[in-house]
Amino acid sequence: MLGVCYYPEHWPEAWWAEDARRMRELGITFVRIGEFAWSRMVPSRGQYDWGWLDRAMDTLAAAGLKIVLGTPTATPPKWLMDEHPEIAPYDADGRVRGFGSRRHYSFSSAIYRQESARIVQAMAQRYGTHPGLAGWQTDNEYGCHDTVLSWGEVDLQAFRGWLRERYQSPDQLNEAWGAAFWSMEVTSFDQVALPTLTVTEPNPAARLDFWRFQSSQVASYNRMQCEIIRQHSPGRWITHNFMGFFNEFDHWALSPDLDFASWDSYPIGFVERFPFSEAERVAWHDTSHPDIAPFHHDLYRGVGRGRFWVMEQQPGPVNWAPWNPVPARGMVRLWTFEALAHGAETVSYFRWRQAPFAQEQMHAGLNLPNLQELSAGGREVAVAARELAGLGRLPESEQAPVAIVYDYEAHWIAAIQPQGADFRYYELAFRWYEAIRRLGLDVDFVAPGDSLAGYRLVLVPSLPIVSDAAEQAFAAAPGVVAFGPRSGSKTRHFAIPDGLPPGPLRRLLDCRVLEVASLRPGVRQALSGAITGHAERWREYMETGGEVLARFDDDGGAALIANGHFHYLACWPDGAALTGLVALLARKAGLGVTSLPEAVRMRRRGGLSFVFNYGTTAWCAPFSAPPVMGSPDVPARGLSVWRS
Ligand code: GAL
Repeated sequence: MLGVCYYPEHWPEAWWAEDARRMRELGITFVRIGEFAWSRMVPSRGQYDWGWLDRAMDTLAAAGLKIVLGTPTATPPKWLMDEHPEIAPYDADGRVRGFGSRRHYSFSSAIYRQESARIVQAMAQRYGTHPGLAGWQTDNEYGCHDTVLSWGEVDLQAFRGWLRERYQSPDQLNEAWGAAFWSMEVTSFDQVALPTLTVTEPNPAARLDFWRFQSSQVASYNRMQCEIIRQHSPGRWITHNFMGFFNEFDHWALSPDLDFASWDSYPIGFVERFPFSEAERVAWHDTSHPDIAPFHHDLYRGVGRGRFWVMEQQPGPVNWAPWNPVPARGMVRLWTFEALAHGAETVSYFRWRQAPFAQEQMHAGLNLPNLQELSAGGREVAVAARELAGLGRLPESEQAPVAIVYDYEAHWIAAIQPQGADFRYYELAFRWYEAIRRLGLDVDFVAPGDSLAGYRLVLVPSLPIVSDAAEQAFAAAPGVVAFGPRSGSKTRHFAIPDGLPPGPLRRLLDCRVLEVASLRPGVRQALSGAITGHAERWREYMETGGEVLARFDDDGGAALIANGHFHYLACWPDGAALTGLVALLARKAGLGVTSLPEAVRMRRRGGLSFVFNYGTTAWCAPFSAPPVMGSPDVPARGLSVWRS
């Protein structure tokens, strides 16, 4: 159940066998290699050097390790970039993003696709049936360093082709984009420009289409790699390592091509990435917030259709956040168990040994730089590995009682036309997740349109575009369903729907949104009734024939309505309103809840209940039986496990 990321090309060959032996000794089963080593595999055009990788694979396999082989396409080598500079991506200001770090390619470059196919095929042919090979990772972190949207000539040409196929005629494109506005009409697809570098805001429908197009390029690029690998590597699985708080492409679109999802968990680094308050950042600086990793475990279990790995687990300080504290002692162990509790099949640490050179020399590994000596994180992994062996085989995860409908387009729409500067989709979704998890409930993430059968409660923090499939899934949902602000507020062409928002949801909700107000920081509107608290950031003015459960104090307008088991919340709720909302919904759904302290979370995996304590004081858990692991008072920065 444990793995590690290893870079044989970074270390003297004489170390490999000892490294492999020590990995096994530590309790590690999987080792991921290869994902950045293109310049070593192919030092120049047509010159392949597999010798070192053959020996590395054989050495690792001989020690009993199972190998995860990464395709090296995140790092095209210098000779290739010199031959074909047009592979490079462009930023939104039209500047080239050149060689010298990584991810310097555009998904739209046909030449890059050919070159990627060539290296993937060569690797798959050579290693596809290697006895030590367990499976594959495609590329590395698609989109990292802001590389989904590229704004160069190859992107423009490919975008025009995509539009041609989608709209058939310039007239239909004009109609869809509302291009009569500001004389934006075109008479040929060749007149379409990239929606950037305009005097003021470019057309939102054009931007949304450009985002959809680039997102689909990621999916088709990944599919290309998967198809080649499957041809030459029968019986081996394929995954990709996704990222945290990353919404630039539609992750659901990649799941059919992968056997399972994996993701890279840097819980402390993400404290700096997410728009937390300064007080929260300080409070969680060396443990992370207790929902950051779980949010992604649950999301990627969804993307992986029930199966996921953590491909890279933070083992100590990272190098890339503005501040990089040492994790509080105990957290590396806690994060390991937490991932497994959420259904991870494997937790793999990044990286085996800290590199003493280059960009990531300040990033910890399980071993100190240059040495065969465990770091503090490495020592916690040794403990976790022993405890895991004691726990035996973990049961399968079951369907959770609560589903969150998570949508990537929702993020793009709010980013393209925020209307209020702090309306961030993923932040809203995270806060809804946090609130429901504070009630001790387990959560699954589903894509819009997925079946909602079996869920007692369905949360839809915001879903601006409601497809026919999504509308049908909601209509058929047996449980309590709650929609948040801006749901149903746009057509698929980024326009206000006929009959007003919530568009197709009006059939389920019996309401119309007539006006919306965004609220600057410091401005709040009180609401009361079945829930009390405030709207902040966003408030909607609606009329309804449904039951009004809470109203805004100032004008008596509806804040929360119900129509049978469907609910609509007409604002961005503050903490109090959100806590009240999820408690009310859980009650209506007949779910038993446990109100947890800020720093404590629970998660069931089959018949096991895990309790995690991110706080500084022990927490006495409400179980009568003794735990199977840990103590009834769940220790600070620790965990206990019960059989339920
Ligand atoms: C990940 C990446 C790794 C390494 C790591 C450092 O985003 O996949 O290659 O850079 O971050 O934290």
